Amino acid sequence: MYSHKKYINKLRTNKLPYKVHIITNNNKCVEIPFNRYEYPNLMELIVDTYYEDIGECLGRGLCGTCHVKLIEGSLNDIITVTEKETLNQVNYFDETSRLSCQIILDEKINNLTFKIITDNK
Ligand code: FES
Repeated sequence: MYSHKKYINKLRTNKLPYKVHIITNNNKCVEIPFNRYEYPNLMELIVDTYYEDIGECLGRGLCGTCHVKLIEGSLNDIITVTEKETLNQVNYFDETSRLSCQIILDEKINNLTFKIITDNK
């Protein structure tokens, strides 16, 4: 059955200029189209589109549940002190780690691939 949500998403995504690829915690790669600044950050786009169980602190950069790793592409972005401190406390942290709530939805992330990192990787 084709759900109303999927139908609305299909209509919405046909016209959007940018896209980001997300590898979910069950290793499925999904393409998420977006408009510049459509959501305050990448975490909110992921949650609204795929309902992943992330974003516990609602984007304040404190909980680490929105941990992602940049798998493909490069992102020249400033990482705040708060983001660095939170990342230092999450499991599986490495130099590709970011908090998706601290990544702005704009052309800099167009065509990049991020993997959601959870406690079970
Ligand atoms: S939502 Fe909590 S650190 Fe990103």
